[in-house]
Amino acid sequence: MNLTANIAGLNFNHILLNAAGVMCQTSEELDRVLASEYTGSVVTKSSTPSLRPGNVSPRYYELSNGLGTINSMGLPNEGFDYYMDYVTKQQTDKPIFFSVAGLSKQDNLDMLHQLEQSDFDGLIELNLSCPNVPGKPQTAYDFETTHEILTEVFSFFTKPLGVKLPPYFDIVHFDQIAKILNQFPLAFVNAINSIGNGLVIDEATDTVVIKPKGGFGGVGGPLVKATALANVRALRQRLNPNIKMIGTGGVTTGRDVYEHILCGADLVEVGSQLAIEGVGVFERLENELITILTEKGYSSLDEVRGQLKIIE
Ligand code: SIN
Repeated sequence: MNLTANIAGLNFNHILLNAAGVMCQTSEELDRVLASEYTGSVVTKSSTPSLRPGNVSPRYYELSNGLGTINSMGLPNEGFDYYMDYVTKQQTDKPIFFSVAGLSKQDNLDMLHQLEQSDFDGLIELNLSCPNVPGKPQTAYDFETTHEILTEVFSFFTKPLGVKLPPYFDIVHFDQIAKILNQFPLAFVNAINSIGNGLVIDEATDTVVIKPKGGFGGVGGPLVKATALANVRALRQRLNPNIKMIGTGGVTTGRDVYEHILCGADLVEVGSQLAIEGVGVFERLENELITILTEKGYSSLDEVRGQLKIIE
């Protein structure tokens, strides 16, 4: 079974990896994802220029009915230099994604200048979609600012770069963001980040379940699958074919991975379910995916990618 993908000339021998934020803050966690023979890559926790402790706890919660998770981590990370040190010392044949999420345009430009000048030869993800920093809106909901940032970035940046987007909920917004993204030589687009600013209430105490932002946080897991698939599908239909898609959101089974691919995903990231199940999730998901592909008579993901059928 051929489960490979290619982004910007870099080969991935498996299509699964972690979603930024899950099992990727420390070098030990990153090593665990990389060491799995069922991952094609790893993405680092989105970094800020300096170490950030993130928001107060409790800041992550798993819904007891298996519907998903809510978090307001607030970008806890070890700081840009830590991840730069990690990726440049890595001896792996898996391409690595270095994710950055500056708290300002200048933060992002500074980190990207350093990446441009470094020996790092993987891919760079510009996270324009973190919903959990108090007082900071999700950049990619502001189309003008997104255009402005990408214009500045691509005035100097030459390495393979993609963006991590928040979910969009309107066809006009799919059109508008795709029109902007198509103006730039992006290597990939990653959809979606968590659905921002959801609210979960504890039935026993009538209290919110996480402390930051009065309980508002990013929702992930099965609750967001339909939105994730819609974003992967809508963007795949609108983006230039040379911009690859990473599908993220609502993946708990091999069928979910398969559906992301049907919608056009090249790689598929696992967030909430990796946090719940641990690194063994990659083996289970890949085996379940292979079973589905075999039953349907496919021998390669290329036969499936983007092949979603509609009712005529
Ligand atoms: C967080 O650290 O709050 C989550 C990161 C993200 O949503 O981009």
